[in-house]
Amino acid sequence: MLRLSGITKNYGERRALDGVTFDVAPGRLTGFVGGNGAGKTTTMRIILGLLAPDGGTVTLDRQELTTDDRRRFGYMPEERGLYPKMKVLDHIVYLARLHGFSRADATERATAILDRLGLGERLADNIEALSLGNQQRAQIAAALVHDPEVLILDEPFSGLDPLAVEVVAGVLQDRAAAGASVLFSSHQLDVVERLCDDLVIIAAGEVRTSGSRERLREEHATSRFELTAAKDVGWVREEPGIQVIDFDGGYALFDADDAAAAQRVLQRAVSYGEVTRFAPQQPSLAQIFKEVIR
Ligand SMILES: Nc1ncnc2c1ncn2[C@@H]1O[C@H](COP(=O)(O)OP(=O)(O)OP(=O)(O)O)[C@@H](O)[C@H]1O
Ligand SMILES: [Mg+2]
Repeated sequence: MLRLSGITKNYGERRALDGVTFDVAPGRLTGFVGGNGAGKTTTMRIILGLLAPDGGTVTLDRQELTTDDRRRFGYMPEERGLYPKMKVLDHIVYLARLHGFSRADATERATAILDRLGLGERLADNIEALSLGNQQRAQIAAALVHDPEVLILDEPFSGLDPLAVEVVAGVLQDRAAAGASVLFSSHQLDVVERLCDDLVIIAAGEVRTSGSRERLREEHATSRFELTAAKDVGWVREEPGIQVIDFDGGYALFDADDAAAAQRVLQRAVSYGEVTRFAPQQPSLAQIFKEVIR
């Protein structure tokens, strides 16, 4: 378990991080979400040891992180940093060799990850000859080629087309399934929502909430319900204790004053005929985010 406890960081007079505390669990994908300037990149740099905190600790399995531990980390920085004049395959092989792999192993690993990321046809091209999104894929390959135990990715999905988002998401899920701890930041809340097991929401250098996606959803559960029935549900408009938000034939979306009111609607719907669906509407990550950073 990677654990951040009470991390504080000042840039001159400006406090960038204020007591940042959260866990990144092995075998899980943790989404790191916050507005511009919230402190995501600063936090990640501190995890990687590229920046020293003014206070607080980063531990891995309760031990303070060492340089050796960090060698088993994979990092995709916000500022992309591959050598433009180097060839794609050579570059990733070179990085794998820095991690101690033989030329043969490094080549095999680099080829496999580049292929998986859809760069199999571009191995002999210079990095600078790749489009922005393809350079991004090469950056992801660079972070992954040594099968890191802990993966820290600063906006890995920015600039990727929808198919590439799916490919990268699949790669990260596989890494987590193999036991890695994965922390990634993103402004694409729909992607984060779909992908992550755990969430950390940060604003103005403070963690506003963290925990499993399901727990956060429950905590922010709305009193909004969806009803779908075989027959017309026009009668809902006359029901006491609810406000109908949307209504169309056999479908109604409504806010209930309390659980009893919602149950009354359900019972009435059942008494009229088949109910195909009745469920509280899940709050989206975008809704949770807005509530939490207020
Ligand atoms: N090198 C620096 N010198 C001074 N202030 C900095 C420096 N780097 C970051 N900051 C400040 O620290 C705060 C957090 O910045 P950080 O880059 O960590 O945010 P972020 O969450 O990654 O934002 P974004 O979503 O825009 O990438 C901001 O107020 C920023 O202006
Ligand atoms: Mg950033």
